[in-house]
Amino acid sequence: MKNDEKSPAINRVDGRLKVTGGAKYFAEFEIPGTTYCVLVTSTIARGSIASMETKKAEGAPGVLAVFTNLNLPKIPGLNTPEGNNAKKPSGGETYQMLTDKKILFAGQPIAMVIADTLERAQYAATLVKTTYSKQPHQTDLEKHKAKGVMPQGERNADYKRGNPDTYKTAPVVLEASYTLPIEVHNPMELHGILVNWTADDQVMIYAKTQGVQMTQKAVAKAFKLDEKNVHVHTEFMGGGFGMGLKTWPQEIAVVAAAKKLRKPVKLVVSRDQMFTMVGHRPYTTQTISMGADKAGKLVGIVHEATAETASYEDFTESTVGMTKFIYDCPNVSTTYRIVPLDRGVPIWMRGPGEATGAFALESAMDEMAAKLNLDPIEFRLRNYAETDPEKNRPFSSKHLKEAYQLGADKIGWSKRKNEPGALRDGEWLIGYGMSSGTFNASRGQASAKVILNQDGSLVIQSAVTDIGPGTGTAMVSIAHDVLGIPVGRIKFEMGDTTLPKAPTQGGSTITSTVGSAVYDTCTALKTSLAALAIAQGNSPFMGSKAEDLVFEDGMIQLKGDRKKKLPVGDVLKANNLPTLDRALDSKGGPEQETYSMYSFSVHFAEVRVNPVTGVVRVSNAVSVADSGRIVSPKTAASQMIGGVTGGIGMALTEEAVLDHRFGRLVNNNLADYHVPVSADVPHIDTIFIDKPDPYINPMGAKGMGEIALIGFAAAVANAVYNATGQRIRDLPITPDKVIKRVA
Ligand code: MOS
Repeated sequence: MKNDEKSPAINRVDGRLKVTGGAKYFAEFEIPGTTYCVLVTSTIARGSIASMETKKAEGAPGVLAVFTNLNLPKIPGLNTPEGNNAKKPSGGETYQMLTDKKILFAGQPIAMVIADTLERAQYAATLVKTTYSKQPHQTDLEKHKAKGVMPQGERNADYKRGNPDTYKTAPVVLEASYTLPIEVHNPMELHGILVNWTADDQVMIYAKTQGVQMTQKAVAKAFKLDEKNVHVHTEFMGGGFGMGLKTWPQEIAVVAAAKKLRKPVKLVVSRDQMFTMVGHRPYTTQTISMGADKAGKLVGIVHEATAETASYEDFTESTVGMTKFIYDCPNVSTTYRIVPLDRGVPIWMRGPGEATGAFALESAMDEMAAKLNLDPIEFRLRNYAETDPEKNRPFSSKHLKEAYQLGADKIGWSKRKNEPGALRDGEWLIGYGMSSGTFNASRGQASAKVILNQDGSLVIQSAVTDIGPGTGTAMVSIAHDVLGIPVGRIKFEMGDTTLPKAPTQGGSTITSTVGSAVYDTCTALKTSLAALAIAQGNSPFMGSKAEDLVFEDGMIQLKGDRKKKLPVGDVLKANNLPTLDRALDSKGGPEQETYSMYSFSVHFAEVRVNPVTGVVRVSNAVSVADSGRIVSPKTAASQMIGGVTGGIGMALTEEAVLDHRFGRLVNNNLADYHVPVSADVPHIDTIFIDKPDPYINPMGAKGMGEIALIGFAAAVANAVYNATGQRIRDLPITPDKVIKRVA
């Protein structure tokens, strides 16, 4: 595949399975004799269990067991009892469920009720009565900000270049604070696990996990098993967004319960439990201080972020990372602090910290542009970083200028007035806003196996799980590009621990990482096929070199004389090979140390703001991605549309509200926690620069899952400012905030 060729816009390979119900999600697997687990959770935020009455529940119809901290069998590989006190880093081993009486957060599981049907388990769970001895809790980050600590790890350390205080004496100065509320992933599919011990030392697991081999490792470690004895299968997922990036305590507890009961046990957490026990985007406050000269050149930026974490685990993310390199600015400092609260631990949620940070930085850039009376794009261009100012090295590829231009043309940026409040349509105020986004692009290690059959069909295998973006489609597209086998004849097998090693799906790395493994493996197969085809008896390619052959339409053809050709499967037949396969391990090269690799995005939003009702509607959206070559145009466009939709939620509707008196969430359901619905989402134009990155991997593909969201909320906030002249720095931009400022 030459770099200037485009990949075919193939349909989602699993589309038919998904819309016909043929795609099986973890909870849909049927194992005879399955029992059902329902979790009882703590109603207090901190303290301990004083007493627990479980007799009635145990005696209820169909109940097999009620497990509490008193009777859950010890999990041999977990470091209890200190487990609950030991601070562990993000995504690491977490607090252990049902090991002691301690209550660490409201919604913490304190008992598991297991019955022969779900309904009986649900009923019995209501019979468990608990009393607590309460201790004062802290759940309000705003009140406890001063307790912020710098988390461990180089990535989280204070950063400084030049003299950041210089901003204070710059001709134009901005200091502003921004807050992001707690957000919850809320995929359609609920979290959970189905566990079946098939022998004393062997277990089969179907789970909602973004990495089957990650779950395999966690279970093997907890139960001191050989990894090969832990079989995990997760082919499809009804949305991950980050919640499945680790193995949660309740999953391990279900594995223990199933072992004890010697029965398959299924746990599907309830929607309200999705708000407390599988992570969330942490409440984060940020201050941006910025100075610029009259010509619009940045003099200094200081970015300070403080986010919540749990009392029992440090969760960190890259909230201030973008500020270090996205603009050419000599004096920059960033600090990142976390405050332990009596809450369940946060986890990465799409775009993660970068999306949080981009809201603040890109809002501030808009505010500064307004102070300078500059067009926000022009202001960004005057501070464009041609090379990475943080690491002092070139970007592997960066086409952000082109992205600004393409997006501006598409949204009709020329209609925008720099003066706010200048555009009206009846009682609606109209505004335009934009924002940049960026996320690390990388290529990790992965394996793949490809198997060619005599009938010319190809099977690709990888353990990777598809959390929704259409990984199978991208992999089929890559294999098609290399081997010229029609897409309909290629099958991608995934989501199972018996398949070749792959990383957990997250951080926009899978197309680059697993895609490269597929590319390399297909290339190795191609080399073998070419050699066999040239050497076989009666070869039409006798005397040719491998580079004289082209692979197209399931055929091998001679470059100069296309009539000389062979179906790929015939090469196997002629060589008496039932199949031909290749498997290899693949990883990124030293280029990753020479170049800074990032994907970039630019988001544009047109909003209509009603000053009477305070309603903000996003009426038009354009997102441009510079994510290298696009290997699967249709699913890539869907990724962008999904990101923008998440961005609309972040900007306008999503907020999990705590009642600090109780340390509990008050809107832990989809009626009160508002994710955008179709009526909230306008037509979205997606534009791809589609230029291969020369260094990241053989396809030239960077990632794009995160940049689809990163920055979008700022584009909306900036558009609201442009429409109304009011700057709203606390997300979400709900009607009450708009009315207060605008009316
Ligand atoms: Mo994503 S937050 O890496 O699932």
